[in-house]
Amino acid sequence: MNTKVAESNQDEKRAQFQARIERGEKIEADDWMPDDYRNQLIKLIAMHAVSEIMGALPEKEWVPKAPTLRRKLAIMAKVQDEVGHGQLLLRVVEDLLAPLGKTREDLFEDLFTGRLKFHNVFHMKAPTWADAGVIGWLVDGAAIITQTMSLDSSYAPYARALYRICAEEKFHAQHGESIVLELAEGTPAQRQLLQDAVNRWWPALLMFFGPPDDGTISSNQQLNMQYKIRTQTNEELRQAFFDKYVPRIFHLGLTLPDKTIRYDEAEGKWHYQQPDWEEFKQIVRGNGPRSAQRLQLRKVSYEEAKWVRDALLAKQCVAG
Ligand SMILES: [Fe+2]
Ligand SMILES: [Fe+2]
Repeated sequence: MNTKVAESNQDEKRAQFQARIERGEKIEADDWMPDDYRNQLIKLIAMHAVSEIMGALPEKEWVPKAPTLRRKLAIMAKVQDEVGHGQLLLRVVEDLLAPLGKTREDLFEDLFTGRLKFHNVFHMKAPTWADAGVIGWLVDGAAIITQTMSLDSSYAPYARALYRICAEEKFHAQHGESIVLELAEGTPAQRQLLQDAVNRWWPALLMFFGPPDDGTISSNQQLNMQYKIRTQTNEELRQAFFDKYVPRIFHLGLTLPDKTIRYDEAEGKWHYQQPDWEEFKQIVRGNGPRSAQRLQLRKVSYEEAKWVRDALLAKQCVAG
């Protein structure tokens, strides 16, 4: 087959694929898909998977220090859920990587060498029990908003995994809310602890959704929208987060470190102070307050668990 014929076949296949997406059909792992669709999915789901695993670490720090046995059991269960989410998503990525000859070991190698990024919020410190509450209430709350959008993703295996994940994330948000409410109704010192944690997490929560669109959305976002991998922009998701959580934060008598934040009725949107997007880039590049320690912890536990993976993958002895 000459090159021109091969190219026009490829164009036809791409057009048919895009038509499937437009009709709202769902794509399965063994369906034909264009390389850029596969690559966008790998980028998105691999980042999501390792963020779930790295996301377990800030709260893991609070398992031995949780104030009561009931709180300890709850936060331990949450940490376990997050690692489980990572495992589910890694299975989804593995199927996408297989035709490229890559494995989940390559993903972890990429994570350790900094090629694969994880979510900005999990590079941050969690110095008090109130941080554990705010992570559950607002970080999991932000994750629910993003993941709910992806329930309708054109890639069916990702959407199916998210149905299970979202159901558990709702428990996490309620667990966080329960810690936050207890502190909000507590002593002045407990309220101060909570206020400090909200102040500490606010810029990271704004960054969670990624930079604003400024009228021109990035080529990554554009491709993801074209392929219906995602259906809302970073800014739309951030606005939905404000709609849900800003009134609740104020209702608890807490303040925000942004004195300019306000909802404009006429425009139907929130105005707010932008976080430092340069700092965001530094954080996701692995220069956040806890990036190095958390990656090191993950690396050590990956190496220490090698014998378990080897044992699971060893060829079974066949009785002669
Ligand atoms: Fe999760
Ligand atoms: Fe969660």
